[in-house]
Amino acid sequence: MAETTPVERLTEEEARTELDRLAALLHRANRAYHGEDAPDLSDAEYDALKRRNAEIEARFPALKRSDSPSDQVGAAPAEGFSKVAHEVRMLSLGNAFDEDDVRDFDERIRKYLGLGGGAALAYTAEPKIDGLSLSLRYEAGRLVQAATRGDGALGENVTANARTVTDIPQEIEDAPEVLEVRGEVYMSHVDFEALNARQEAAEAKTFANPRNAAAGSLRQLDPAITAARPLRFFAYAWGALSAPLAETQLGAIRRLGELGFVVNPMTRRCESVAELIAHYREIEQARATLGYDIDGVVYKVDDLALQGRLGFRSTTPRWAIAHKFPAELAWTRLEGIDIQVGRTGALSPVARLTPVTVGGVVVSNATLHNEDYIAGRDAKGGEIRGGKDIRVGDWVQVYRAGDVIPKIADVDLSKRPDEATPFVFPTRCPECGSEAIREEGDAVRRCSGGLICPAQAVEKLKHFVSRAAFDIEGLGAKQVEQFYRDGWIKEPADIFELRDNYGSGMKQLKNREGWGEKSADNLFAAIEDKRRIPLAKLIFALGIRHAGEVAARDLALHYRDWQAMAEALDVARPAARAHRAADEAEEAERQAAEAEGRRARVSDTRAAAVAAQDVPEAAATAWADLIGVDGIGAVLGLSLSDAFANPQERAAIDKLVAKLSIVAPDAPAADSPVAGKTVVFTGSLEKMTRAEAKARAESLGAKVSGSVSAKTDILVAGPGAGSKATKAAELGILTFDEDGWLTLIGDA
Ligand code: IVH
Repeated sequence: MAETTPVERLTEEEARTELDRLAALLHRANRAYHGEDAPDLSDAEYDALKRRNAEIEARFPALKRSDSPSDQVGAAPAEGFSKVAHEVRMLSLGNAFDEDDVRDFDERIRKYLGLGGGAALAYTAEPKIDGLSLSLRYEAGRLVQAATRGDGALGENVTANARTVTDIPQEIEDAPEVLEVRGEVYMSHVDFEALNARQEAAEAKTFANPRNAAAGSLRQLDPAITAARPLRFFAYAWGALSAPLAETQLGAIRRLGELGFVVNPMTRRCESVAELIAHYREIEQARATLGYDIDGVVYKVDDLALQGRLGFRSTTPRWAIAHKFPAELAWTRLEGIDIQVGRTGALSPVARLTPVTVGGVVVSNATLHNEDYIAGRDAKGGEIRGGKDIRVGDWVQVYRAGDVIPKIADVDLSKRPDEATPFVFPTRCPECGSEAIREEGDAVRRCSGGLICPAQAVEKLKHFVSRAAFDIEGLGAKQVEQFYRDGWIKEPADIFELRDNYGSGMKQLKNREGWGEKSADNLFAAIEDKRRIPLAKLIFALGIRHAGEVAARDLALHYRDWQAMAEALDVARPAARAHRAADEAEEAERQAAEAEGRRARVSDTRAAAVAAQDVPEAAATAWADLIGVDGIGAVLGLSLSDAFANPQERAAIDKLVAKLSIVAPDAPAADSPVAGKTVVFTGSLEKMTRAEAKARAESLGAKVSGSVSAKTDILVAGPGAGSKATKAAELGILTFDEDGWLTLIGDA
């Protein structure tokens, strides 16, 4: 057989067959590896196959395949599964860590719905399964598609694999025409142990925990492998539906049970926070005997009409929360403290630990937060851990909760080595040597090197290509690091010149180790594909401090156009400067007042500082407009202003933008009479809460602002409206009472 024949004895025909076989094996192994699943091959086997492939290619260069594994260091894993757009986004859950958080959750909901503390409000409580979520689409009772969550909007099509899971019915009776059932794929403890034993016997990689095993098994490219892996499924939610399942969450879950899905037997209806907590305790008690991993309890508002009114924040529902189990703990030795420099220059201390198992996962790094945390102080100078500092050589307590990065909770002074000395936090950037500055009121020390700091530049680039930003297929963190190191990509604009610079000529991408003609072409195409980019993604991708996904979306919806935003920031700059001067003056006044034992004159001080700056009218208006955007305040305003005013950073931004075609956000529902209008709510509302009013207005395409200005189109004034109503009247702004507003938007 060709497989065992030494390379020097292979005939040409055998060599061709053998190269085909090796390509198939190695591509599969690459995909398994990059999908973070257990590879079917051990590292040694993988290396041996790769070597054999290279030797055959060396002997028969003409037979080298165009997709030869020699040219690939696992660059393109994504071809594995096709992508599926979720008709209804798959969301995640907010977290509660203690009973207070649960009470806050209940209060938030009551407030949003305008329910008093005494009004009845029921919830369901059920175990939070530690697996991976899956959406199953049934049409006319037949399973037609199964998709992973992916980024919530776009998942992976794993239909063939889902069909091998026995808990997932292929056909259901008496179901709505369209029904998307959502739930968790998981592996039981017994099945997990048995799988790992089999993997070990086969010298294949074992899994760290049941969740990884479930994920790895579901995301196999070969459904036959998935079929051999014992996966299970609990149904707990739904997506698209052609007809409602029930009127309550519990009713809907019962209905899913009747349709043939496995639903969790520990799901209960609870009438109060006290009942939620009691059921949480019950589930916590049962945890060890369930036979599968859970990491908390999920609470959901039972009434589906109320769920509908509550709706969603950007990535989580308002009507549900996950109450997580407490973190798991272990003690180990702190071997060293490294300083990492992030995208915004933040110097983050990382604990290097003697590896220790915490809750089934081996931990060797943990965050130490910032210099105060190491010193045993909180942000206000108070003691934490009873004031104990953390030193290299100490015994420290590590904890992790769910997926969160492990943290250091405590230190055992009785085991402190005599020679241990307090940790001295660097005041220079370890990456570029620039001064690292800690600003007043900031817990974090930051490198002042900006883009000259290689660590900041690389982290900014990684952020730029990340999934929620440009998401360029084939250009991940690893590739960006390599390209940066070799000087191929120094700033985002360079990405869009990659083909011009390295598609032909002396140095070519396809000749780099790990790349080939095909993967290079794929990357160039993927980059071209992203030249058209939605405004919100572009803003987020710039990696400006405080400008997260939600803020970027708010900015995009407000300005609707890149040029408009850039100009507004330029115009507003003197006002931003004045705002900062006022902040500094305020801080100085507070300190002086404290020293002199008098009350601080904050507003006078601020006003004087602003007056001294002589801000042009246009700047003041542009600044007020910027920080008046709901969800955007002075902190983000200053950060944006700084980024756009910094010459290096601005040059990089302008260079990038010149290469892109920026897509404006979808025009708001044009048929709504308030679409595109800026609305301010003031006074008390009686038929809806403020939050509900805002969400409703935004869903109709209106912008909701917190303050009245010349840009305000509509003021909705309830009883008790004060200065805002007066100002609106002065400016001649259209004003409605609550009923008038509801009539206007057709909700009366
Ligand atoms: S409800 C719209 N219920 O937890 C909310 N999620 O941390 C839909 N999960 O992505 C989720 N058990 O994968 C819900 N009983 C349960 C759950 C559950 C596990 C997962 C789910 C979700 C994640 C959020």
